[in-house]
Amino acid sequence: MLLDTFGRQAVDLRVSLTDRCNLRCTYCMPEEGLQWLAKPELLTDEEIVRLVTLAVRDLGVREVRFTGGEPMLRPGLVSIVTACAELEPRPELSLTTNGIGLARTATALRQAGLDRVNVSLDTLDADTFFTLTRRHRHQDVLDGLAAAEAAGLAPVKLNAVLMRGVNDHEAADLLAWCLEHGYELRFIEQMPLDAQHGWDRSQMVTAEEILDRLHARFSLTPEPSSARGAAPAERWLVDGGPASVGVIASVTRPFCRACDRTRLTADGQIRNCLFATGETDLRTALRSGGTDAEIGELWRTAMWGKKAGAGIDNPEFLQPARPMSAIGG
Ligand code: 5AD
Ligand code: SF4
Repeated sequence: MLLDTFGRQAVDLRVSLTDRCNLRCTYCMPEEGLQWLAKPELLTDEEIVRLVTLAVRDLGVREVRFTGGEPMLRPGLVSIVTACAELEPRPELSLTTNGIGLARTATALRQAGLDRVNVSLDTLDADTFFTLTRRHRHQDVLDGLAAAEAAGLAPVKLNAVLMRGVNDHEAADLLAWCLEHGYELRFIEQMPLDAQHGWDRSQMVTAEEILDRLHARFSLTPEPSSARGAAPAERWLVDGGPASVGVIASVTRPFCRACDRTRLTADGQIRNCLFATGETDLRTALRSGGTDAEIGELWRTAMWGKKAGAGIDNPEFLQPARPMSAIGG
């Protein structure tokens, strides 16, 4: 099992399949993109499946989430999902995506065994979408959402980041729209994980502000905290339920004590936290003939060293060298 010194067990594995993306969200990447990982540095599909297999069979992982960058840019995505769906015990399989290309791939992903998708969408307005992502792809995301729903990748979840002066006035509109479509919406506080280090605490739209904006139009009742488990989102029933809305207050109300995640980057490094400053290299072990037992031991050691919390709101906080797009959400 993947335990740490604070008594937590990691059962949720986030696998980044690529560091590339077809959007340039301002809170994530600079306009010109980044220096992408070179092909030989990336794990192959077979290497990824071997590590996921090991994690599920030997290390107690029960849930596997594919992320990026944009994971749908990885040509082997469907076959990786297929292989992971054949594992025993069968892990839950989900995908965090910006939705572009989902219109084309949702059915194949569902047939491969994918259970759920989280689609990132921050605005209902095409021009605001361009301001936020620097690409004219709003309609592609809307089409992707509809296709995910139609393919049975339910419940479709939506992630939204609010940026002051850009889309923060849309909080209640986004919720109304999600209620109408049966999508589950979660707001995420903007975190200091952008490659260009432009995060500014004083500009961040806080969970409290988000809730104030929602309260103006909806009645919200907190879901019992017992229902939350290791989920990062605090949830509220909207207008008495059954629909709900979530807020991930990574900065102002961190949830590190219940964290059950372990992360694998596209180049084969284990990160025990989004905000970890160190990583553990599994790729070298993989490529130099390491046995499953040896690789499992490296992974366990990596997780044992997990810190109590990230402390983003502390003055001593140091942003990790690797940006979000190369870690995965
Ligand atoms: N802060 C908060 N959320 C972010 N995401 C990307 N970068 C950041 C950031 N700096 C979100 C994306 C996506 C999810 C993987 O994380 O919008 O929904
Ligand atoms: Fe791409 Fe996601 Fe970063 Fe936006 S937040 S640029 S969709 S990786």
